[in-house]
Amino acid sequence: MNVIAKARTESLQATKHPLFNDRKLKFGTFCSNLSGGCAISKIDGVLKARWPETLELAQLAEAMDFEALVPVGRWKGFGGPTNFNGEGFESFSWASAIAASTEDAGVFATTHVPTIHPIFAAKMGTTIDHVSNGRFALNIVTGWFKPEIEMFGRAQLAHEDRYKMAAEWLDVVKRLWTEDKEFDFEGQFYQIKAGWCAPKPLHKPYPPIMNAGGSEVGRHYAAKHCDVAFVVFTTHDKDEMRKQVAAYRDLARQEYGRELKIWGYAYVVQGETEKEARDFYNYYVHEQGDWEAATNLLDTMGLNAQTLPKEAYAWIKEHFIAGWGGYPIVGTKEQVVDKLQLLSDIGLDGTLLSWARYAEGMREFQEKTYPLVVQAGLR
Ligand SMILES: Cc1cc2nc3c(=O)[nH]c(=O)nc-3n(C[C@H](O)[C@H](O)[C@H](O)COP(=O)(O)O)c2cc1C
Repeated sequence: MNVIAKARTESLQATKHPLFNDRKLKFGTFCSNLSGGCAISKIDGVLKARWPETLELAQLAEAMDFEALVPVGRWKGFGGPTNFNGEGFESFSWASAIAASTEDAGVFATTHVPTIHPIFAAKMGTTIDHVSNGRFALNIVTGWFKPEIEMFGRAQLAHEDRYKMAAEWLDVVKRLWTEDKEFDFEGQFYQIKAGWCAPKPLHKPYPPIMNAGGSEVGRHYAAKHCDVAFVVFTTHDKDEMRKQVAAYRDLARQEYGRELKIWGYAYVVQGETEKEARDFYNYYVHEQGDWEAATNLLDTMGLNAQTLPKEAYAWIKEHFIAGWGGYPIVGTKEQVVDKLQLLSDIGLDGTLLSWARYAEGMREFQEKTYPLVVQAGLR
């Protein structure tokens, strides 16, 4: 290693991962690797799963110092006229290339536990961590979308068993990332003989781990094993949202003695006037929304996941169409900043953001809104 590269690596090891910087409200992109992005809509201009498009979003995110680029692990679309999310880049190989094309943002890959062996995942994660100079992070998903798990010739496990398997999976990955000696592992789901992985990731003790399971067992999994968790809000009442965030943090503190970073995700619809923003919302959601794909998605989620209470599915459908079920930020640039302030006030450490016409929306946000976000002291 030459002197400059060595110094850079050492200084990086001494610094924090972008996810743990001091900015008040951290930002990320979500689902920038899949067709449609986060908007289940038939309008023109939604994201295409093409390299120039996904790269442009990463570069726009970097220009605003976003801390996280979070792809979605997806192997099949949701049908309907758009076959929403049906085209997409595999997230580890996406992350490796995005890591090589960026300098500062945290770069995630998303694993579906039953589809990737932990040794393979540990090795890929290590590679991306080196490519990115210590900016890799891992999102663990147990696999709720039954058709894609069955595509691998695997029966979907019972909900609780998925998290048992995920616990073993992560145990193996962490050991591969931290232990210098070969080890054996005898689990219910994995048996490892003389497990070994080198080099180790640059980020110590290992790259940040995120989980977004919203069920009771999923929340315990995140609180016990992960560094970052996501809340899926079951209401948009500010006080109730605050309680949901606090409950997650308290669960990690009280039951496991751990500090968890809590993130949310939101979609932004910005206009010169509030009316302009609301009109565009009505157009892409109510007039041009792909309600068939959204129904397929939520029906499958309702049968196979426990993130949302049954009564929330009808209410949340339009928010899935608008932005994968995220928190709505609709209005003028000043109103957008107010809503971001609200997300910070209720205790979130960060939020992923999406726009229906992703690049166009991000460019407008960068030009008109981001300076106000900085002025508000959020960044
Ligand atoms: C921010 C975020 C990212 C997610 N990423 C994925 C993903 O990439 N692939 C996937 O199948 N599910 C993804 N999910 C779904 C959850 O990880 C989780 O599997 C689902 O909500 C079911 O949780 P449960 O098993 O606890 O009910 C994501 C959810 C959120 C909020």
